[in-house]
Amino acid sequence: MNANSSANPITKRLEGKVTLITGGASGIGKTTTRLFVRHGAKVLIADVQDELGYSVCKDIGSESISYIHCDVTNESDVEKVVDMAVSKYGKLDIMFNNVGISGKAESRILEFENDNFKRVLDVNVFGAFLGVKHAARVMIPAKKGSILFTSSLASILVDDISHSYVASKHAVVGMAKNLSVELGQYGIRVNCVAPFATATPLLTNALGKMEKTKVEDVVSSVANLKGVVLEPEDIAEAALYLGSDESKYVSRLNLVVDGGYSLTNPAFSNALKILYS
Ligand SMILES: NC(=O)c1ccc[n+]([C@@H]2O[C@H](COP(=O)([O-])OP(=O)(O)OC[C@H]3O[C@@H](n4cnc5c(N)ncnc54)[C@H](O)[C@@H]3O)[C@@H](O)[C@H]2O)c1
Repeated sequence: MNANSSANPITKRLEGKVTLITGGASGIGKTTTRLFVRHGAKVLIADVQDELGYSVCKDIGSESISYIHCDVTNESDVEKVVDMAVSKYGKLDIMFNNVGISGKAESRILEFENDNFKRVLDVNVFGAFLGVKHAARVMIPAKKGSILFTSSLASILVDDISHSYVASKHAVVGMAKNLSVELGQYGIRVNCVAPFATATPLLTNALGKMEKTKVEDVVSSVANLKGVVLEPEDIAEAALYLGSDESKYVSRLNLVVDGGYSLTNPAFSNALKILYS
């Protein structure tokens, strides 16, 4: 079942859970917001795209969702949004550190601009760090919570991807592992979702504003799993599992949603074909 499905009444897997989703105005964050609300969560979305953020609230049309402006690299913004969850709902159950930027598409070290590197690390790593720091402030006394990050296939697979993006996503997974050890004593679980490529604005813009359907065609042509297209809903479903009590003993996972792509090695299979021909 996907996030847009209007099928029969569903079991609400997040009933009453208070969730903060960063980057909730677009792409994976927006889709996750919709799914979480459908599953009974109260969701605060934190983003810098105010107009889009408010329109997501309007589209979803539920009292269980609110938007707040928050630049994840600004500690007082992050502090404010966590405090808002507590003042509005009395707690924070799920913190989804989903914001990420790709930065300029440079992959050659000699041309790589320092500011490009620093900006990506600032948003993708420091922003996520601040999110956890303030979520943990609330979750530790409550002795429970689920902290999620959106990592990427770039946390396990590298090839011609920007150095800053790869470094940032490896760092997020490393931080999540370390946090899962520190926070386990307080009943707090920490996990990541690692998507393959899905046609959100992050990807379509990085590809020079390529049409969504074209991006999906290209991704599907190289994908391992055929007959399906990876959509933001699929990442949202993984986040739903990790946010819900169904994963109550799962911590430190980097849940790869790639249809097996990262196990493939086309260069190796091409070499074998040449050798056996
Ligand atoms: N789309 C993909 O193919 C893909 C693949 C792997 C991982 N990811 C990861 O998924 C996550 C979500 O990306 P998406 O594809 O939905 O992209 P997106 O661009 O659609 O959404 C990202 C959101 O983050 C917000 N944002 C950016 N900087 C911010 C800041 N400083 N403070 C607050 N909000 C900020 C943007 O305004 C935007 O709404 C990112 O971490 C990305 O790295 C995406």
